[in-house]
Amino acid sequence: MPRGPKGVSAGASGLTAEKVGVRFQSLAAVSDVTLTVRRGEIFGLIGPNGAGKTTLVNCLTGFQSPTGGRVLLDDRDTAGWGPDHFRKAGVARTFQAGRLFKDMTVVENVEVTGVGMGLSRREARARGMTVLEWLGIAGKAEQTAGSLPYTDERRVGIARALVMSPAFILMDEPAAGMSDAECEDLMGLVSSMPSLYGCGVLLIEHNMSVVMGVCARVHVLDGGRSVAEGTTAEIQKNPAVIGAYLGMEA
Ligand SMILES: Nc1ncnc2c1ncn2[C@@H]1O[C@H](COP(=O)(O)OP(=O)(O)OP(=O)(O)O)[C@@H](O)[C@H]1O
Ligand SMILES: [Mg+2]
Repeated sequence: MPRGPKGVSAGASGLTAEKVGVRFQSLAAVSDVTLTVRRGEIFGLIGPNGAGKTTLVNCLTGFQSPTGGRVLLDDRDTAGWGPDHFRKAGVARTFQAGRLFKDMTVVENVEVTGVGMGLSRREARARGMTVLEWLGIAGKAEQTAGSLPYTDERRVGIARALVMSPAFILMDEPAAGMSDAECEDLMGLVSSMPSLYGCGVLLIEHNMSVVMGVCARVHVLDGGRSVAEGTTAEIQKNPAVIGAYLGMEA
């Protein structure tokens, strides 16, 4: 595994949803979804609003227990694992909305995550600064997180995930609200995560051309169900995918 700015991440080589379902009362938010994100790849998860993307990521990170099926880290069944257990096993995530400690500074937000993962404060801060520099926001390290525009909140969220040296990082629409130029910059960084950090990336992103630019494989959800999975070339030609997306953009 290649050595990233913070050293090699230990851990699993595949994160799998096996026939995962999630019901909220009468609503089937996710139904019978099977996919595997592999270490070292960038895996796209796409689908219209309400397709179940976030709910599935919640299952893959311990924020939601599947009501059907299983989540596996390699061949380990994660039943009963909470978010902290997933994090310690090398599964990190970012959120659609900030979830930062608003009264703490940017670097403190990253540091506290590193400390939570067992680093000393000094090491957590040093690694945090390296990641913030890499993400281009080291200049805001001493600002309070609550004062940031939400595109920067999302960058800090990514820094908090990466400071854990994860085996997997799952990113929920990290570029939402960014300008085209900012999005391009961020996707350049995302593209280099597998080689620099040695992790697998699951990326939720609405912009199809962005997804096609950075992902090797793509899984498409619509109405909680899998519509297709394949390489970007296969997905672009798939009539069911085109249907789901035309539906979304109409
Ligand atoms: N905690 C919850 N309780 C009840 N329903 C929920 C809950 N979370 C999500 N849902 C519903 O489950 C469905 C899937 O939602 P989810 O947030 O996973 O979709 P998504 O693909 O991430 O959408 P978006 O692109 O808008 O972020 C939606 O119908 C949503 O309203
Ligand atoms: Mg979502």
